[in-house]
Amino acid sequence: MRIRIPEHLAIIMDGNGRWAERRHLPRIAGHHRGVEAVREVVSECRTLGVRYLTLYAFSSENWGRPEDEVNALMGLLIRYLASELDDLCARSIRFRVIGEIERLPAEVVRVLRETMERTAGNTSMVLTLALSYGSRNELIRAMRSLAREVAAGRLAPEEIDEARVAGALDTAGMPDPDLLIRTSGEMRISNFLLWQLAYAELYYTEELWPDFSRQKLHEALAVFARRQRRFGLTSAQIAEGDGPFEENSH
Ligand code: FPP
Repeated sequence: MRIRIPEHLAIIMDGNGRWAERRHLPRIAGHHRGVEAVREVVSECRTLGVRYLTLYAFSSENWGRPEDEVNALMGLLIRYLASELDDLCARSIRFRVIGEIERLPAEVVRVLRETMERTAGNTSMVLTLALSYGSRNELIRAMRSLAREVAAGRLAPEEIDEARVAGALDTAGMPDPDLLIRTSGEMRISNFLLWQLAYAELYYTEELWPDFSRQKLHEALAVFARRQRRFGLTSAQIAEGDGPFEENSH
């Protein structure tokens, strides 16, 4: 039996610190294990036919963490990208970033840009990392860019519609997520993709991110496949077949 696979899956990877603390290890050990979980989930999503996978890797608020931890996360990111580049290309995965990347260290920005350029022609899946990302900040930047268009006389206020706003966001060109997974038992959106998650199914699991395996991903996808998305319609309208209920073809 084929199950319905989300076209766009977004994940808030939470619980690395707790994973390490429970083992009396430094927090960074949890982030190291977290990278292994990222590898497994990226690989499985590609295999299953998820077209867009967006991972919350570093929030705007994470800048407030101890300097050691921030530096260690940046180092992990550089090593992850360096080690994955060949595999991303071999599996035709395009790499993208959302967030205020210019706030990141210059070396990280250089590696990010290089990875984006080298994978730009890949077509099987888009892997997006949210880095130095906060949704309200993204919305402010989008509003400013639309306001600049209006001020320059290139756009009338009445022309601002959902498509224009979506096109001004960092996620321009991507469909909205169908499913959001958050690990480690927290039930919050935490300033992640506020506009884009408007109709997403939400799935929370107690599992800490480093323990989030292929098997746990399958469990989340099975729950998603059983849920009926209503897009604000009534049960009767759904029964009559109104609305955007086409299954993914992949
Ligand atoms: C949350 O754990 C996780 C993060 C701050 C970011 C996720 C980072 C990784 C998985 C590693 C780097 C990623 C890549 C792609 C190289 P937490 O520290 O908030 O956990 P806690 O809530 O238990 O303290």
